[in-house]
Amino acid sequence: MLQLRSPAKINLFLKIVNRRPDGYHNLASLFQAINLVDNLHFQFADYSQFVCDDPRLPIDGSNLIIKAMELFRHKTGWNRPLKISLEKRIPYEAGLGGGSGNAATTLWAMNQLSGQIATEQQLMAWAGELGSDPAFFLSQGTAYCTGRGELLQAMPPLKSPQIWIVKPHRGLSTPAVYKRLDVSKLPVNHPEETLKGFYSGDARYYNDLEIPALELAPDLILLRQQLEKQGYQAVVLCGSGSAFFCIGGSEPQAMEAVRVFPAQFLNRSQGTWY
Ligand code: C5P
Repeated sequence: MLQLRSPAKINLFLKIVNRRPDGYHNLASLFQAINLVDNLHFQFADYSQFVCDDPRLPIDGSNLIIKAMELFRHKTGWNRPLKISLEKRIPYEAGLGGGSGNAATTLWAMNQLSGQIATEQQLMAWAGELGSDPAFFLSQGTAYCTGRGELLQAMPPLKSPQIWIVKPHRGLSTPAVYKRLDVSKLPVNHPEETLKGFYSGDARYYNDLEIPALELAPDLILLRQQLEKQGYQAVVLCGSGSAFFCIGGSEPQAMEAVRVFPAQFLNRSQGTWY
């Protein structure tokens, strides 16, 4: 039996560079894992099975856990049946990468259970085949990501401020937000400069996906204003939304149809999981 935490992530800054011929977008973003986590249990069984405590989540082949399991089997030929149980705690359609973290955690777990038949480098390359975000979780928790998000440069851990994740009831679909994005209207930002700022005491938080997300979901504008009034150092959309992260300050005041999760940055040491 192996029990692992599967973390969420936030993008401390997210710059969209351009739209690519394959329909994806090149981005430049500082990704950070946080201690808002799902729990995943893996055990050997007579036949493979996947169960989840949240009935709203698909448990068929469309779930990234199943896709990751099948990919690991395909790449390595290691076929021992597993029962995988997921305790879902990270809100979804939130921009927090919960499903991507689950996929990376599954690759890591299967590699442990199989006696480490793959290297961390291989796991990271395979994670890139599952989507844009899973590879990040195979870093040590802080990484500057480029390409469609799957090209990683490991960064030293940062001292964590207090973070508040604020999740409105409504969710947002990542493809819909990217579809709405007009790259020609984005503000000019120099991501390499922004990156340096995080290591020289001049952190600047922003997210280029905020404009299309707020256009798609204008009710989020009011939520953002309510949070800004509370005096945080920053209020920024998480990934493609619909959650926001607030930096510093105390717990946001109660708001209708909104859930709040306290969080801190989370990093792992080489050879161990989060
Ligand atoms: O890679 P993933 O499956 O998470 O991406 C979901 C969707 O988000 C893609 O189909 C694409 O529409 C959009 N996307 C994008 N550029 C990225 C990442 C995602 O356009 N870098």
